[in-house]
Amino acid sequence: MSEALARHSRPTGTVRVTVPAKINLHLGVGDLRADGFHDLTTVYQAISLYDTVTVSTSDRSGLRITVTGEGADQVPTDERNLALKAAKLLGIYGHISPAAVIHLDKRIPVAGGLAGGSADAAATLVACAQLWNLRLSDIELEKLAAGLGSDVPFCLRGGIALGTGRGEELNHDLKAAATYHWVVATSQAHISTPECYREVDRLRANDIGRYSYHVQPLLKALEAGLPAEEIAPLLVNDMEAAAVSLRPELSSLMHAGLDAGALAAHVSGSGPTVLFLARDEAHARSLAKSPKLRASAKALHVAHGPVAGPAEQLTGSR
Ligand code: C5P
Repeated sequence: MSEALARHSRPTGTVRVTVPAKINLHLGVGDLRADGFHDLTTVYQAISLYDTVTVSTSDRSGLRITVTGEGADQVPTDERNLALKAAKLLGIYGHISPAAVIHLDKRIPVAGGLAGGSADAAATLVACAQLWNLRLSDIELEKLAAGLGSDVPFCLRGGIALGTGRGEELNHDLKAAATYHWVVATSQAHISTPECYREVDRLRANDIGRYSYHVQPLLKALEAGLPAEEIAPLLVNDMEAAAVSLRPELSSLMHAGLDAGALAAHVSGSGPTVLFLARDEAHARSLAKSPKLRASAKALHVAHGPVAGPAEQLTGSR
C-alpha cells in the first residue's frame, strides 16, 4: 500500500442510503458522436421505487458486494458492478485503502431502463464519502459520477432535471409543480442499452425514427403543473421504436395498458420496462389491477414522481 493510500486512518461504521429509480419524460436522441455516445436532450424524473445501499466497514481489506431483493440473481458481484466501481473510484480519489462491504437491496427492477445500476453507483458514492469522511463538493461528486455513467449524475440529485451532452450535463432549475402517478410494468424481455442505441442508428440509416429536440412544451407544462391528461401527449422517447423493433412483444404490453385506460404508454429509457401514466394515485392502483395488464407484464409497480434523490442515514459509529 502506498503512503498516499495509507494517509487516512480506517473509519468504522455503517452508512445506509436509499436511492430512487429514474425515468425520462422526454428522451431526444441525436446522432452517434465520435466518442461512441449520442447527444441527448432529456427530462429526467426520479420516481418512488427505491434501492437501499448499505456500506459497512469490514475487518478484511478490499471491497466486497452482496445483493438481495428483486432480480438479485441478475446483478453481477464482480468488477462489472457499477456500485463496486464507484467505491473503488472514490477510494482512489480520496486516498483511502478501503475495507468495506457494500450491500445492495434491490427494489428497482434490474436492467429495466430505470437506471437501477446507476442509482446504486450514485448511492455508493454518497455512502462511501460519508463513511470515509471525505468532504467532497457537489461538483467533485458529480464529476466522479459522470465518469461512471451518463445517468449517474442525475441519480446523485434526483427530483427533476434537464439533461444534455450524453445525459450527464444537468440543469436542475426546472420547476415541477405537480406529482404524476405511474404504473411501472417490467417485462421478461431483455434489452441492453448499447444494443438499443445501435438499433436507433440502424433504423435511422433506413429513414425510420425521429429526432425530438423540442422539449420546451413539456417543460412549460411541468412548470404549470398541468394535469396528467395534458402531460400524456408530450411524453417522447426516440428510443421507443428501436426498443419495440428489438422486442416486438413490448407493443402488446403497451396496448394492454392503453386498453386498460392508461393516459399514455411510454417505454422507459432503452426499455424494456414500460411506464403507464395515470390520472392520479387511485387510477394508477386500479390500472395495476387490470387482469390484461397483469397477464402481459412480468411485474407491476405503482410509483409517483418527482421524488428527492439519495437520502443517507448513518447507523453506528464512524
Ligand atoms: O453512460 P453509460 O455507461 O450508461 O452508457 C452505456 C452505453 O450506452 C454506452 O457505451 C453507449 O454505447 C450508449 N450510450 C450512448 N449515448 C448516450 C448514453 C449511452 O450511445 N448518451
